Formats: sequence, structure tokens, C-alpha cells
Amino acid sequence: MVVGKSEIKVGIVGLGTVGGGTATVLAQNADVIAARATAIRLAAVADIATEKTRAFLDNIGLTDTVLTDNWHDLIDNPDIDIIVETIGGTNLAREVISAALKAGKSVVTANKDLLALHGGELLAIAEEKQTDLFFEAAVAGGIPVVQAVKEGLAGNRFKSIMGIVNGTTNFILTKMSETGEDFADALAEAQRLGYAEADPTSDIEGYDAARKVAILSSMAFNSRVTFDMVACEGITHISKWDMRYADEFGYAIKMLGIARHCGDQDGGYIDARVHPVMIPKNHPLATVRDSYNAVYVEGNAVEKTMFYGRGAGALPTGSAIVGDIIQAARNIVHNCKARWGCTCYLNLPVLPIDEVESKYYVRICVYDTVGVLAALASALTANNISADAVIQKRKIGEDKAEIVLITHKVRHADMMAALKAISDLDCTCEVSDYIRVEEDEN
Ligand code: HSE
Repeated sequence: MVVGKSEIKVGIVGLGTVGGGTATVLAQNADVIAARATAIRLAAVADIATEKTRAFLDNIGLTDTVLTDNWHDLIDNPDIDIIVETIGGTNLAREVISAALKAGKSVVTANKDLLALHGGELLAIAEEKQTDLFFEAAVAGGIPVVQAVKEGLAGNRFKSIMGIVNGTTNFILTKMSETGEDFADALAEAQRLGYAEADPTSDIEGYDAARKVAILSSMAFNSRVTFDMVACEGITHISKWDMRYADEFGYAIKMLGIARHCGDQDGGYIDARVHPVMIPKNHPLATVRDSYNAVYVEGNAVEKTMFYGRGAGALPTGSAIVGDIIQAARNIVHNCKARWGCTCYLNLPVLPIDEVESKYYVRICVYDTVGVLAALASALTANNISADAVIQKRKIGEDKAEIVLITHKVRHADMMAALKAISDLDCTCEVSDYIRVEEDEN
């Protein structure tokens, strides 16, 4: 494919795990990339760890790649066509991407934190400068779901996107389910094996997944959804007892990112949230184990599709970034940049979490006395909630028992009010946990 330039030059800003994976894929697969698209060369890298970075580049055969500790050198170099931003964070990265786009360069990034906050602003700069901003690696690492939603499935009205988009929490929940471990032990193992960071907050509290849901919702529902609009609840409260009871009821517990279009076809609203969910064991997402990711997309024409793969790691993420580099390179060679931009032409509201309706599993520790079930039932009835199943699961010590119930669909606000009323009952020792239950496949 030689229409315009015969070699496309790339500059990477930040050569950590993801930048390093990108450089490795570019170096190892240079021949197939050139044969499929055009010659692509990693011309320059900007990184502060210069000695270590030089050794890394030499080791993968990129001895000609120029190394600098000043990212402006890459932006100011007119020979560099594509800037890859892999420094992460939201401040410097925003400056780098913005400067690169303003210089007319194509930009590829994996930065979900930045896109979930300032994606609209950056895509507007790309549009103004008639250049490309690609971000496949920002959602579910190596899985090409961004391209799928933007291109392959672009003929659909999307109904829902539901996904396991955080590998750390999927690893922890898989361990808990398969070994009977409690959360803290499974987290410690994830940290030991490198699946969880020393500070795991962003993963286990759901913030990482919420950023991905914000990006996917914006694309699928043509309305800008930012991180702060996605209701988010973590997995730290899940216990081995929840795992055990879920199994008995025929459910798996998964941390899901959920984005749905509700209401009118041409209006309506968006339901966007991240939290643990009990899903039937035969749901396709229930079979996704360990640190794997999967995204389940439903469109009105295609019906249900599922994308599965590695959501993190140097080479899988590098694979996604190099895919974007190739797409950007093709657009440069064919002189057709800016084909693929922001599609947020609507401004649909996001449903407040209080209004979201779900079935709930609730685990309550009660004093084992006469009238407990009647008291629980009246607290539920007072808040418009009816129970689908109520089961006394186990004795706790001499005088306590654990009651597990599953409700019919109920507004979140009503469920919270009922749990407060149950907590206040004399017969209640504690409301130990609640988890939403999804019966539908979408
Ligand atoms: N910490 C993330 C995960 C990596 O566990 O999936 C990519 O965001």
C-alpha cells in the first residue's frame, strides 16, 4: 500500500509497561505490519528513565530509535506523524495529547482516566485539526471492542453493553468462587502474582471499570458520559458466604460494567453503572475466569455479540495500540484522516442510581427469635418490596441465624430504605451484604 508516504514515523511518550509493549509489538511484527499496511518505524521515544529505556530499546533491536527526556522534541519534529501517549495520569498526558493534536499529528492513547474526563475536549481538538485520536487500548486492553462499536457494529442502535472490564477484580472473584477464600486472601494472592497493584483502590472500588463504561456509553449512545456520571460500587464487601449462597442459588458473582439505553428509541436515557452482580451460571459472562475480560454487546440488528480476551498486560495492550497506529498510518498514507471522530450528537441524561431497578440478594444476621420473619416481611412491604425467596441459611453461634432473601425488581432507593428499616429492627444483628441480581441476558 504505497499511496502517499512510504514510511510512517511514530513517537512514543512514556515507555513504561504499555509503551514498552507497544515498542515490542512494533519491533517484533515490523515485517507483517509493513506487508499489511505500510512501513512503520518507531523513530523516537520520550521518557525520563533514559538509561534503562535505551537498554530496553536496544534489546528489542530498536537501536536507531532516538531517545529524549523532553516530549516537546517529538511534537516539534515535523517528521513524526503519530504520537503515542502512554505516560498515564490526567495532567501531563492531557498537555501532550492536546499539543500533538494541535500540531496536526495523529494520536494514539491508552489513557482511560483522561478520556473518561476530557475525551470530548480532546476529540474536539482532533476534529478542528482534522486529525485522528484513537484509543482502542483504553477499554478492555487487547480486545478490539472500541473498533467494533465504532465501525463493525456502527449500523446498529445499541441496546446494551455489559462487560467484565477489570481483570484484577475478575481474578479476585474467580479465586473466591473456586477456592472458597475470603476477599482479603484473594486480593493478597492477586497482588503477589502481579494482577493487583500495591494500592488496588482503583480496581477493587470499580473506578477503573467506571472509566471504561463512561467511554463505551459515550460511543454507543451518542451522548458524552463522563466518569462522575457512572454509579460505582466495589467488591470489598463480597464474602465467602455470598459466594457460597450465590452458587447454591445457581449464580456466579461478577463485577460488571453495565451501560443500557432505556426508553424511546430517539430519546430516553442511559443507565450506566459498575457493581458486583449475581448472574446465572449459564450466562456467557459467568464463564469468563481469572484475569480475562469480556464485553457483551447487544445491537438491534446484530442481536448479541461477545468479545473476549486479555484486558491488560504489556503485549495485549501493545496489540491494541499498534492496531490504532496502523489505522492512523493508513489514513495518513491515503490522505483521509479524521474519518473517525466524536459521535456524541445527542445529550441523553444518565439515570440516577436511586431510580435503577434490580432484583437484590440480601444477607441479614438476625437474633433467632419468634417473629423475625414477620418483622422482615413488614419492613420490606412498607417499602414496596416483595421477596422472591427467603431462606434461613445457617445458625451463627447460640442465638443468631443468617437469613438470605432475593427480592423481585425494586428501585435502588426503595431497597436502601428497606435495608435501613431492617437494620433498625430489634431482631436484626446486622445487614451483612446486598448484591444485585441480573436474570436477563442484557
Ligand atoms: N487494572 C486494570 C485491570 C488494567 O485490572 O483490568 C487495565 O485497566
